[in-house]
Amino acid sequence: MTVPPPTGVTVDAHHHLWDPGQGDYPWMTGRFAPLRREYAAEQLIPELTAYGVRATVVVQVRAEEAETRDLLALTTRHRFLAGVVGWVDLASAQVGRQIEALRSGPGGQRLVAVRHDVSAEPDPRWLLRADVQRGLADIADAGLAFDLEVTPRELACAVQVAGAHPDLRFVLDHLGKPPIATGGSDLWRRGFAELAALGNVWCKLSGLVTEADWDRWTDADLAPYIRAAVEQFGIPRLLFGSDWPVCELAASYGQVLTAVRNCLPPLDPSQAGQVFGLNAVEVYRLDLPRSVNPADQPKEAPMTSVSATTRQQELQARALRALAGGVSSNTRLLNPHLIMERASGCRIWDADGTEYIDYLLGQGPNFLGYAPPRVLEKVLAAQRDGIIYAATHTREIEAAERVLSVLGWPETMRFGSSSTEMVQAALRMARATTGRTGIVRFHGHYHGWIDNIYTRNEGTEAGPASKGQPASALTDVIPIEWNDIQAFEQVMAEHGSEAAAVLMEPIMINAGVILPAPGYLEAVRRICQQHGTVLIFDETISGFRVALGGAAERYGVHPDLAVYGKAMAAGWPCAAIAGRRDLFADVATGRATHAGTFNGNTIATAAVLASIDELASGEVYEQVGKIGTALMDSIRDCAEASQLELHVQGLPMAFHASFATPRQAMTRYRDLDRTDPARYARLADTLIGHGVWVARRGIWYVSAAHTEADVSETLNRLERAFLAFSTQA
Ligand SMILES: Cc1ncc(COP(=O)(O)O)c(C=O)c1O
Repeated sequence: MTVPPPTGVTVDAHHHLWDPGQGDYPWMTGRFAPLRREYAAEQLIPELTAYGVRATVVVQVRAEEAETRDLLALTTRHRFLAGVVGWVDLASAQVGRQIEALRSGPGGQRLVAVRHDVSAEPDPRWLLRADVQRGLADIADAGLAFDLEVTPRELACAVQVAGAHPDLRFVLDHLGKPPIATGGSDLWRRGFAELAALGNVWCKLSGLVTEADWDRWTDADLAPYIRAAVEQFGIPRLLFGSDWPVCELAASYGQVLTAVRNCLPPLDPSQAGQVFGLNAVEVYRLDLPRSVNPADQPKEAPMTSVSATTRQQELQARALRALAGGVSSNTRLLNPHLIMERASGCRIWDADGTEYIDYLLGQGPNFLGYAPPRVLEKVLAAQRDGIIYAATHTREIEAAERVLSVLGWPETMRFGSSSTEMVQAALRMARATTGRTGIVRFHGHYHGWIDNIYTRNEGTEAGPASKGQPASALTDVIPIEWNDIQAFEQVMAEHGSEAAAVLMEPIMINAGVILPAPGYLEAVRRICQQHGTVLIFDETISGFRVALGGAAERYGVHPDLAVYGKAMAAGWPCAAIAGRRDLFADVATGRATHAGTFNGNTIATAAVLASIDELASGEVYEQVGKIGTALMDSIRDCAEASQLELHVQGLPMAFHASFATPRQAMTRYRDLDRTDPARYARLADTLIGHGVWVARRGIWYVSAAHTEADVSETLNRLERAFLAFSTQA
């Protein structure tokens, strides 16, 4: 008998996420060894989308608060994680305080219950200890539920404890682990029935396949236990949980869900809705995000990786299967996993046709808006001439001459396809010319994801920022605080003679927009000169955006080399490195290698030429300056009216918004520690839900395609979003 599809939201009330690289899982040996690998939310999402599960409860595995904190923080990135069953030390006298501390951290409001692996305690009567009883009373006072992880051995004590705490909601995990493979036990039958007789205990239909014979189980093995649960607990106190990824030892996600459905007696849709959703909402007091429910405003942009409409869901599931993590760049993992279809001007449409005013602009490149008509025409014409010749071509020479002429200070250049590789070229050229290897770089500045420059933003030693990145690749990198001239003087006094290059974003934009302090760039320029160190400006974002000549023009400070990308080619993939001729000498003669199949192709160089044609008169900068200023003012006013302590700083063409306490200008990367990124990420999701496409990390880009009318429409959407956000909060 198959249970009909549930009405309302489908919830998986029991699954796990873990990374054995981050903590100790001693039980993952022997038969459980296949589980010793990372199981991340991104791996679960395809299963959830495939089976229409909209929200989940993630359950602790390690007896450590650190794991619970990590799971709570994850809920800020994945809104489908509607609840966390965490761990606190129940035997301590501080249970209330531990819960408070967890609740005040990122995602803390998603803590819905506590669990302790009672079956792992040597003392079968552990639950009855006085300190544990006091801890359970604190859990009840905090309004949380308690998950019973017990085997038949501890069931009798669980009955006593549940009877002694009528105010506490208990959830029996995995039906109390009946020994299904060996045919059940009287101990289990008795304890299970006695627990069911207590009105404050719910029962999770989870973990059954792993109590059965992993290789040979069938629905018939599970059916008697599910029947007992229905008869004794009744439909209103049963909730479905997949126990993913543990279930994978014996069955796939879909097999588990299907088996539970098959073993339940005939249910009407509303009963099915209880077992597969509403009961979990009730016992865990889940606060489901509105947009996870497809019945809610289907045209509103979804606020979660598992999103609202069927088409989005299907596309997300396909993306997740076909592309690792569903994306082609990890930066995109940071925003909601919304599948887009097209864009024009300053607007972008998702696969459901929902339209957004776009202030992310592809992470900056679309400075003229999407598909700017005159640029498009010239690029299409170039394409008709063929794209890659493996030879220098006329457009390429013209584009290089034009770039050099508008920048003014550099003598020669090369084209490439991404700034990541241009940064690598810059480092190689600086090292080849100086014969040194050291690179000074700054906390919070991004220069691509390659091993030798991608670092953690902390400390005085450069540490890898990514798994799989060898620390040895960073031995030549010296990281310091930016905008602090004394720190720079000091490091150069110590390491200047080994430093081939100093590499910086001349305006820090990527991590949060901070302008260089007056005199800072000039001082850095002078000190690099003194030490014979090559000064490299990474103008990937600032170039062609803050002025035609980028930050170098805006501040009148010329580096020795500079990297450009993004706005230079109006959204077409093209990057460049430009600078002093002598620094290019080794590359020019082939002694130092710089190469790339797609470098300087016809469409990229046509886009550069056409983009400069649009930018050269300066009108675009005037327009973007006006519009961006109006937008920054609107955001500040609107936040003020909604009593949101939002701080906005930067330039009209690229600025940053954050929740900062106190609300003061930030001048150093470490000032960003004062901000609450998780809260801002939630605000960004609300904005997206109201048709304003922004980055969760706080950056806003403005393009030449944004008009006054767009800003006033944005303001309308902001007002509604801010109101919704402050009401939710
Ligand atoms: C300052 C800076 N440098 C380098 C890069 C890497 O550029 P790409 O993604 O084109 O490789 C970026 C990308 O955002 C950037 O912002």
